[in-house]
Amino acid sequence: MNKLLLILWFCLSLLITQTGIAQYNRLWIPDTLSGTQFTLRMKDTLSQILPGQQTLTEGINGKMWGPTMFFNKGDTVHMHVYNNLNDSTTLHWHGFHLPPVMDGGPHQIVPPGTIWEPFWQVKNRAAMYWYHPHLHMTTEKQLNKTLGGLIIVRDPLEAAIKLPRKYGIDDIPLILTDRRFDAQNQLVLSHYGDTMFTNFTLNAQYNVPAQVVRFRILTASAERTYNIKFSDGRTYYVITSDAGLLNAPVAVTSYKMHPGERIEILVNFSGQSNKSVVLRAYNDVLDNGEPGSEPNNSNTNPQLRNALGNRVFDMCRFDVGVQTTNPVTVIPSALTPVYPIDPATATVTRSLTFSAAGNNCPPNAFGCGWINNKFYDFDRIDYRVKQGTTEIWELRNNSSIGHPFHIHDVSFNIISSSYGGGGSYSGGSSYSASSTLPATMAGWKDVVFVPAWSSMRFVAKFEDNCDSIHPFMYHCHILYHEDAGMMGQFTVGDCFVAGKNSGNNSSSVETLVGKGKLTGNKNIISSLPEFTVYPNPTHDKIFLSLKDPSLGVYYVTVKDAVGRTIYMLPGYRLQNAIDVSFLTPGTYYVILQDDKNKQVNTKKFIIK
Ligand code: C2O
Ligand code: CU
Ligand code: CU
Repeated sequence: MNKLLLILWFCLSLLITQTGIAQYNRLWIPDTLSGTQFTLRMKDTLSQILPGQQTLTEGINGKMWGPTMFFNKGDTVHMHVYNNLNDSTTLHWHGFHLPPVMDGGPHQIVPPGTIWEPFWQVKNRAAMYWYHPHLHMTTEKQLNKTLGGLIIVRDPLEAAIKLPRKYGIDDIPLILTDRRFDAQNQLVLSHYGDTMFTNFTLNAQYNVPAQVVRFRILTASAERTYNIKFSDGRTYYVITSDAGLLNAPVAVTSYKMHPGERIEILVNFSGQSNKSVVLRAYNDVLDNGEPGSEPNNSNTNPQLRNALGNRVFDMCRFDVGVQTTNPVTVIPSALTPVYPIDPATATVTRSLTFSAAGNNCPPNAFGCGWINNKFYDFDRIDYRVKQGTTEIWELRNNSSIGHPFHIHDVSFNIISSSYGGGGSYSGGSSYSASSTLPATMAGWKDVVFVPAWSSMRFVAKFEDNCDSIHPFMYHCHILYHEDAGMMGQFTVGDCFVAGKNSGNNSSSVETLVGKGKLTGNKNIISSLPEFTVYPNPTHDKIFLSLKDPSLGVYYVTVKDAVGRTIYMLPGYRLQNAIDVSFLTPGTYYVILQDDKNKQVNTKKFIIK
């Protein structure tokens, strides 16, 4: 009896603490990983996100979200991705320039209980990127469960500038996202949440030093736009646009961020010890069609009704403490020169029209679809880009909601020239129809928000990563739009350049693959790569040997007898044996793709 009373008293006091006194929670800073070998283990977990009952989440190396990985430009990084979830997934390196089989898009499926080991040479500019699941139709569900993480790339150009870079001290990541919960504190799949989280911390607070602090901000929300501003209206300085530093810091007092976008900002807290300021979303002034502008009460669609709609809300409170040693105290006057791609060098222009038809049409209905009247098709290549070409992509938004458009493989430059859409494109957006692009957008980007009824053009160069079989994605980064098929795919092919090409797959000479479907392609000209698996049968390891070693190995997949992928390995791994000691006895298959012709062959092996 006494014991029961004690427990009751304990629970009650907990409740009081959590509802009354503990107004703020210290901002959670994800752990870090660095080097060239990275191990990521995805698993189903429980996290204390709200007071009371724990929440079922999906975490990477921890309870929720994942570690922040530091890459150095020029390094070859190796990922060891373990899927210990109960579900299939993929892991996509958002913003990275890499070969398509390493990209982690919807085609690089990692089934539960298996390992995926992509690798690539880091060619991206210093900036913050991120990684997240990308399995078609489950991206929103898995990201909602907090699966994802940040990647910070460092390079010598950035290192030469006097910028804060003490992670968690004066260089602070801020992951903006919103969630909805049920009465049992479990995550509900919803385009908008009712609760704001910064780094998955409710009512976040952080102590900052009295000096220049760098915040690296990611919008990881499913749909919401954030109009970022401080409670005292102070000026802050934008220094990056998604995928690289700007020419110089741009002074602003507010900035609108859309899903998938990243900015880094500098805030000068010098001489402000003991002061406090709150970073807020001033979403009461969003334009119509900017996701998050919908008032909470005036919507008949329950998916759009949410407690944060069309209002001002707090994201993180900062309390200024003392200075650290070697503080940065001045905002630099210059960063790195941006040399944008000259649109005049573009030889191809592609036009993509977004329509709202997808909202009302059954999937695959005729004359219906999100992009150019089409829904995403796993087996359809929408565009075949020739390696080495510079292209202009025109994005025309013929719908009443803005779409944050994202493309894989390349970073692009938004073209500032006006684009007179005509028809129903009023060109009403501040930057799509004017000839001046805001300085904050005059750098390297991989997501661009195309406002309702307006249009946008960008220029990109598809320099390498030639592979005419495996596609890259482009899509709207509103997660339910993407999952509902507002996505397409392109290959970068035709890369035979005098026996050479650049990129990771440096020896590849392509075979023309015709216009057949991606899977079951029968138009293949050259012969299959012959190879043997030995020892066979085996019990702990296998070696592969190509009959014609000059073909080289591009990628190897190991499957079990029912077709489940066990292993996905890039070619370089085959200098050593493949460890199969953890497999149960039975029949397995090795599927080898050669580096030269990108042809695929399958061999059986037995585990005793
Ligand atoms: Cu952030 Cu296709 O992804
Ligand atoms: Cu991406
Ligand atoms: Cu969209």
